[in-house]
Amino acid sequence: MSTTTAVIDLDLPGATISRHVYGHFAEHLGRCIYGGFWVGEDSDVPHVRGIRSDVVEALRAIAIPNLRWPGGCFADDYHWQDGIGPRDARPRMVNSHWGDVVEDNAFGTHEFMDLCELLGADPYVSANIGSGTVREMSEWVEYLTRADDSPMAALRRANGREEPWRVPFWGLGNEAWGCGGNLRVEQFASLARQYATYARDQGGNRLTRIAAGAADADYHWTETLMRSLGDLAADPAAPAGPFQAVSLHYYTMSGPWSDKGSATDFTTDEWYRTMARARVMDELLTRHSTVMDRHDPHRKVGLVVDEWGTWWNVEPGTNPGFLYQQNTLRDALVASVHLDAFHAHADRVVMANIAQTVNVLQAMILTDPDTGALVLTPTYHVFAMNVGHHDADALTVHLRDVPTRPVEGSADLPLVSASASVKDDTALVSLSNLDTDAARTVVLDLRGRDVVGHTARVLTASTLGAHNTPEQGDAVAPALHAGVRAHARGLEVDLPAHSYVTVALDLG
Ligand code: AHR
Repeated sequence: MSTTTAVIDLDLPGATISRHVYGHFAEHLGRCIYGGFWVGEDSDVPHVRGIRSDVVEALRAIAIPNLRWPGGCFADDYHWQDGIGPRDARPRMVNSHWGDVVEDNAFGTHEFMDLCELLGADPYVSANIGSGTVREMSEWVEYLTRADDSPMAALRRANGREEPWRVPFWGLGNEAWGCGGNLRVEQFASLARQYATYARDQGGNRLTRIAAGAADADYHWTETLMRSLGDLAADPAAPAGPFQAVSLHYYTMSGPWSDKGSATDFTTDEWYRTMARARVMDELLTRHSTVMDRHDPHRKVGLVVDEWGTWWNVEPGTNPGFLYQQNTLRDALVASVHLDAFHAHADRVVMANIAQTVNVLQAMILTDPDTGALVLTPTYHVFAMNVGHHDADALTVHLRDVPTRPVEGSADLPLVSASASVKDDTALVSLSNLDTDAARTVVLDLRGRDVVGHTARVLTASTLGAHNTPEQGDAVAPALHAGVRAHARGLEVDLPAHSYVTVALDLG
């Protein structure tokens, strides 16, 4: 096999990779909010106003750009007025989607906005269309973002917050084709237009309204939502219309929904099937973008992948409704492959939110329910290694001589995934070796600008299922990578088997 080459024109920057594709999602589900973010004001776990300090610190370290809340399916059951005012007077509710547990609404609007301020992250509020009213939603926007003495602004003040908050992202429903109301797309498109109309820009606050979008390859859903926006092509300067973005959800697993596979105990075949499914994200983005391009050639409407990541069978012995799963090196490479796809589609993908931040699905952070100990997952480390891509300009990576592997039920799997970006005088190259056994050397054929230095980091482990625990928190952790050498065409980079490598290039 000849050497794999990655040709990169450092002087041909493409679309800017929004930092918001590194966004996160926190639902009232299992131990994500309760126990994950929120421990309450009486907790022994160090906290600020009930919010775990170590979780905030870890997420600030990866420059978390936004946080989607309160769901997910939960959002279409959530009535925001139950989550304001004195905590001991808040009504309870049943979280019927996730474990059928009783929720005491201790974490509500003020707690979420406090969390976002502590994180330095933009709030993405997902509003209830499934079981809420237009008035209820409209009043939530007013409560959050209005400055004067309007009824909702006065109520906010009575609850202790003088100034309005800034809320840039507003979700219109969630999975409207399923838990969000089992709606037909034509019906939902009308509702999305209606609700969007009453999600008003108050004062200087500007909302990007995001209509609940398709699952997987449901191109008809995207097509219908886009058509509902009318003629977007006619006037390049005219605004997009009632909503400014549509979403897409796609989860990766190694088996069917009925038996998604174990997070930690998997075969080599399952590894490759997982990687093949992760790579489907690129095809989905290409095809949903093609549909959008037909209606919106000026790209006024964004594509928001507001749920993505791995979904495994829950850890044995845990509540099946809580979606708690471990996170291994395999999850890290699923993440890097998705992030490569988001970079490649930076011209259309304006935001993405991995599901979900703490203790649920492909989490950044796991916390021990008994001791409270915090663990950073391998996926967290990929996000940490990629901070240099935030708001950088995408560079096209032309890969040559990439080995492939047949995967049953999928197209052949290319075993190297890559992406790159440039910001000022630094470029960042991301390289994933999906091969379980073989190391590989990749020549970076770097054109257009001089490279005066480099720093490389590697994330790998001796086994595919390696993961971090409170006892062994650094079983999978990034290290400086010495396997980078000068080459006549740029640099030569060693990729260990099953590894993720980033190379930061100093362009002088
Ligand atoms: O992330 C878990 C669930 O997955 C969300 O609540 C829902 O939107 C999706 O089906």
